[in-house]
Amino acid sequence: MNAAGRTGLDRMPEWHDLAKHREELGEVDLRELFAKDPGRAERHTVRAGDLHIDFSKHLITDETLRLLLDLAAATDVTGLRDAMFRGERINTTEDRAVLHTALRAPRDAEIRVVGDGGDGGGVGENVVPAVHAVLDRMGAFAERVRSGEWTGHTGRRIRTVVNIGIGGSDLGPAMAYEALRPYASREVAIRFVSNVDGSDLHEALRGLDPAETLFVVASKTFTTIETITNARSARAWLLEGLGPDADEEAVARHFVAVSTNAAEVAAFGIDTANMFEFWDWVGGRYSYDSAIGLALMVGIGPDNFHDMLAGFHTVDEHFRTAPPAANAPLLMGLLGIWYNAFHDAQSHAVLPYSHYLGKFPAYLQQLDMESNGKSVDRDGEPVRWQTGPIVWGTPGTNGQHAYYQLLHQGTKLVPADLIGFARPVAELSPRLRDHHDLLMANLFAQGQALAFGKTAEEVRAEGVTGELVPHRTFRGNRPTTTILAPRLTPSVLGQLVALYEHKVFVQGAVWNIDSFDQWGVELGKVLAKRVEPALTEGAEVSGLDASTAALVARYRELRGR
Ligand code: F6P
Repeated sequence: MNAAGRTGLDRMPEWHDLAKHREELGEVDLRELFAKDPGRAERHTVRAGDLHIDFSKHLITDETLRLLLDLAAATDVTGLRDAMFRGERINTTEDRAVLHTALRAPRDAEIRVVGDGGDGGGVGENVVPAVHAVLDRMGAFAERVRSGEWTGHTGRRIRTVVNIGIGGSDLGPAMAYEALRPYASREVAIRFVSNVDGSDLHEALRGLDPAETLFVVASKTFTTIETITNARSARAWLLEGLGPDADEEAVARHFVAVSTNAAEVAAFGIDTANMFEFWDWVGGRYSYDSAIGLALMVGIGPDNFHDMLAGFHTVDEHFRTAPPAANAPLLMGLLGIWYNAFHDAQSHAVLPYSHYLGKFPAYLQQLDMESNGKSVDRDGEPVRWQTGPIVWGTPGTNGQHAYYQLLHQGTKLVPADLIGFARPVAELSPRLRDHHDLLMANLFAQGQALAFGKTAEEVRAEGVTGELVPHRTFRGNRPTTTILAPRLTPSVLGQLVALYEHKVFVQGAVWNIDSFDQWGVELGKVLAKRVEPALTEGAEVSGLDASTAALVARYRELRGR
């Protein structure tokens, strides 16, 4: 338990100091802070691996940072961090270690799960050899599929891999596959199906030849209803498409599984020889660098996958060893807390200036909101402080022509991350070469406009008069972090994801919540199971409230049942 757990975060002197500081600071004027302090940009920029991270456009002074770092020290963020890296069972409500960092540890590292040494005590075996054994199996399998050596039931090579999974078993690989498209094989395409809405599978299978299609069923638990339903339908589609002589052996050529649950995989009818394993110390939303990334690995190839893992590891090491004042995830986490608690900010925007990162905000939504969307602390006591923000965003420049108006002139404070790259990922045709500078000019311009705005005097100096002046004035002082990297490579993607994973960790540590469970998603699942028979069989479902009962009745009427 950290100090926040013992006394309550909002009763800690460090919290009070921050509240007082916020009051004294009043409205921060970034123009003034920059004008007075030529070293500000340099002093508030840190490096993590290839990531150049500029925090200078935040509503902070050196004193703010000092107080935030005091809060981190008082809540023992680094203590919990070290416990995580050591394999302690910091996911207390599920009694599990949190070791996604072991997934990208080098082959010769040694990491053991505390409490797995027998009778619930001691330390277990070194997990790193098992991690690399699975990576090696994945690599061999991926190469066989990519080269055409792995053939389907009729002897034809695989042309499309369809990943069936949801949440952490979908968002990470789907996001990374899109992010790393230029690295992907053009011989084997990867598609992703997640939604139990049949239209998702319907569209994913459109135009595919069953003889050339391989399914990866990815599910940590292998009991997730959406995934199992989609996998069953996919199997029926396969058997129907392959014709009458297709049997269970045919299924084995076209279905592999990724899971922690061998018994359920076997019960589904997938040969466990075709199963790629991971472990209960990997949370679903922290799992795409485990075997959950199998389809991604087929797409981008084992070497690129390993480069991505090395990128993750670089930022893990940064987080583990960089001093607090230069520790990027720590600073990102603390700044989020600053806005969340002391500026009433409700949300956080992630704005990648890369079309390839189109799914990155959606991926971060699960990472952040499933982790820190909690309202009781580690001891089950209601928290009296704000926890996880609403995370959202889309790639620039598109968002500029949609919701940036609110960012610039709305009444809500929305701290934002602007993410950009010095070079485009793909070698673009000469005709497109100028696009990248224009894209990045927009990123830099947005950071500037948000921070420094445009004063009424500047507006008037442009000849605007009278009533129009306030409409054309920008108050500025809208905080952003700018993250600049050389290029969106597999390694840089790994670095970015690890940066956000650890940022989420830092915030959960300060708020004294368990960032690694997700009990909040259970109730809806249970209720859906209860309601379903009322829709399909017209069964009487007791205990339905009047609103839901009427909706179900109307649904049945509309369905003609
Ligand atoms: O319902 C939430 C959740 O448990 C996520 O945490 C997880 O990523 C997702 O469902 C999918 O779970 P599984 O990989 O076990 O199918």
